[in-house]
Amino acid sequence: MVEVYELLTVVVSLIVVKLFYWIYQSRNPKSNEKLPPGSMGFPIFGETFEFMKPHDAFQFPTFIKERIIRHGPLFRTSLFGAKVIISTDIELNMEIAKKNHVPSLTKSIAQLFGENNLFFQSKESHKHVRNLTFQLLGSQGLKLRVMQDIDLLTRIHMDERARKGCLDVKEISSKILIECLAKKVTGDMEPETAKELALCWRCFPSGWFRFPLNLPGTGVYKMMKARKRMLKLLKETVLKKRASGEEFGEFFKIIFGGAETMSIDNAIEYIYTLFLLANETTPRILAATIKLISDNPKVMQELQREHAGIVRGKTEKETSLTWEEYKAMTFTQMVINESLRITSTAPTVFRIIDHEFQVGSYKIPAGWIFMGYPNDHFNPKNYDDPLVFNPWRWEGKDLGAIVSRTYIPFGAGSRLCVGAEFAKLQMAIFIHHLSRYRWSMKTGTTILRNFVLMFPSGCEVQFLEDTEVVNSAGSNPD
Ligand code: HEM
Repeated sequence: MVEVYELLTVVVSLIVVKLFYWIYQSRNPKSNEKLPPGSMGFPIFGETFEFMKPHDAFQFPTFIKERIIRHGPLFRTSLFGAKVIISTDIELNMEIAKKNHVPSLTKSIAQLFGENNLFFQSKESHKHVRNLTFQLLGSQGLKLRVMQDIDLLTRIHMDERARKGCLDVKEISSKILIECLAKKVTGDMEPETAKELALCWRCFPSGWFRFPLNLPGTGVYKMMKARKRMLKLLKETVLKKRASGEEFGEFFKIIFGGAETMSIDNAIEYIYTLFLLANETTPRILAATIKLISDNPKVMQELQREHAGIVRGKTEKETSLTWEEYKAMTFTQMVINESLRITSTAPTVFRIIDHEFQVGSYKIPAGWIFMGYPNDHFNPKNYDDPLVFNPWRWEGKDLGAIVSRTYIPFGAGSRLCVGAEFAKLQMAIFIHHLSRYRWSMKTGTTILRNFVLMFPSGCEVQFLEDTEVVNSAGSNPD
């Protein structure tokens, strides 16, 4: 009986697959000859499941490697119900990044950012919000408005966790980030509101890349609920402050202080976008960086030497870091650059092709999603032994550059990441405070990627007992 049932299941599945295949063939007539090579996979799902298979975070995914061998550096596929062109050619990635303006978001992600999001509306609104963001997150903004807060928050959280003996890098760096941005944006927040806002973040991490099914029980549904709650909390805080005449955070003053006005709804959505993008990127890259350091004792030793030097140079009263000290963290910047290079095993340029685009004998049609992988980060012509984590390879290079012809961890063109310098600052300060202790990443920590970086067994740092290598007042107990 069971065998008959199984046979029936197989037959029905085959019929369904064949049916979908016919539908698919009829929707994709033979006029595709000029498209880049590739397969569109199954109807609707395309090649999504293969694409999303978790892989070693520091290796290019097998999905991409196999297709490069089969089709070369440019190929087509279908992911999350959308037609996609994937390129691993940095020249082409740069060109597409410069010539196309609209970011490619899958439907589930577009829903998450909201229809009225100024980052994704007109070119003018995009330019306006980028300019505003740089007032806070450009070099001057970071130096004058952000650095001190990040330093203080990191010190407090690090010391508290060191007393407890362990720290989850992703959790703590996310806390630091949100506490810092929330303060900059809204000013002080009621503890209850801050707590609830933090709770909302938990619904996001695993839910980014999904099919756009907003039905109860799905990840997208949970994300949308969390988004609604967060926007409401932020708006309530802002309106309450406005009514009571309480002071806003500096960033709100920037937003509402200029000649161009922004509605409260737009402002809230814009700020939410910054929170979301910041929280989904830096904590994961930082956790991966800490793992790379932990696995490379020579790197850890060199970092401890650099940071002990900074702390020793301070007097008892000068506990906080200065901008000059940050800029002098040369080896730390080399470590961060190297980590950003080696963790770039996902696309970093996302665009929708706005006009049909000719590449050699191929045509990329308008409306297709373009994903540019930074394959050049792993090209031995640019980086000797590219799979090896070697911060010293950055010696003598321009450590401040966030984009070059062989390095695009933050994308390129008009959509180049606005939080790049902020991310690097947060990472450097975290490494600074961690280097005051003797620590190691918990044995068995693994890092995978299924588009985003994942830490299946957490990303916990364990402090060795009584190990503050250099205390904050500058003396060395050793
Ligand atoms: C290590 C951390 C980070 C990495 C690796 C990263 C990477 C990226 C990449 C690859 C893009 C797309 C660029 C393109 O398509 O050309 C991007 C865009 C963006 N990122 Fe980041 N990012 C990081 C941190 C941050 C932070 C901390 C913030 C906010 C505080 C942020 C805000 C944004 C925004 C708003 C955009 C869209 C820019 C636009 O459309 O003009 N990112 N980021």
